[in-house]
Amino acid sequence: MIRIAPSILSADFTRLEAELADAAAAGADLLHVDVMDGHFVPNITLGPAIVQSLKRVTDLPLDCHLMISEPQRYIAQFIAAGASMISVHVEAEAHLQRALAMIREGGAKAGVAINPATSAAVLEDLLPFCDFILVMTVNPGFGGQKFIAPVLPKLRRIADMVRNEARAIEIEVDGGIDESTAPEVVGAGATILVAGSAIFGQQDRVEALRRIRTAATNPTA
Ligand code: DX5
Ligand code: ZN
Repeated sequence: MIRIAPSILSADFTRLEAELADAAAAGADLLHVDVMDGHFVPNITLGPAIVQSLKRVTDLPLDCHLMISEPQRYIAQFIAAGASMISVHVEAEAHLQRALAMIREGGAKAGVAINPATSAAVLEDLLPFCDFILVMTVNPGFGGQKFIAPVLPKLRRIADMVRNEARAIEIEVDGGIDESTAPEVVGAGATILVAGSAIFGQQDRVEALRRIRTAATNPTA
């Protein structure tokens, strides 16, 4: 099953409650929350206090993508704020096994995020410790960037790795996902599609999400 996770990075922050209601009405499966620190990535967004507020006004599971240095220092706060899924970047955490264990012990799904130029090989020995892999299809930091197509062969390799595991490990893609790139990433093995500007950047969110879901049902071979 393909799940769609609208990213609130492209939402109107003056009316987040209404934006979340829109996403739920459009049939979103998750809500993707981009946490940026102005250090690991060149942009600053939000922290655990906002996640806690979001949790109060939505039933959608909160998928927190930590684009921050030393993410381990903040995991407990995001768990307490109500995150259902938390991903940490391999490029940002020296003690990944411990970080992932902390996420799981807190009752959330643990994810490993990798940048476009990071090799899939780093994931090989990490798979036992994670529940999902977040494959960046843009360089993290901003919404509305162009999909980096050369990531697709890596996505296929990761899908192969995951298929050999006894446990189900989801593959999430993030960056430049819309109705034209959705068939390609699903064809390459993605099971969770993050979409910011292609959903919250559109007037009609119901129609926008429907288009992506329909496109995802016709994967590129
Ligand atoms: C980028 C973020 C993404 C962003 C995606 O650093 O991690 O989640 O919101 O935005 P779009 O879908 O517009 O590329
Ligand atoms: Zn993200």
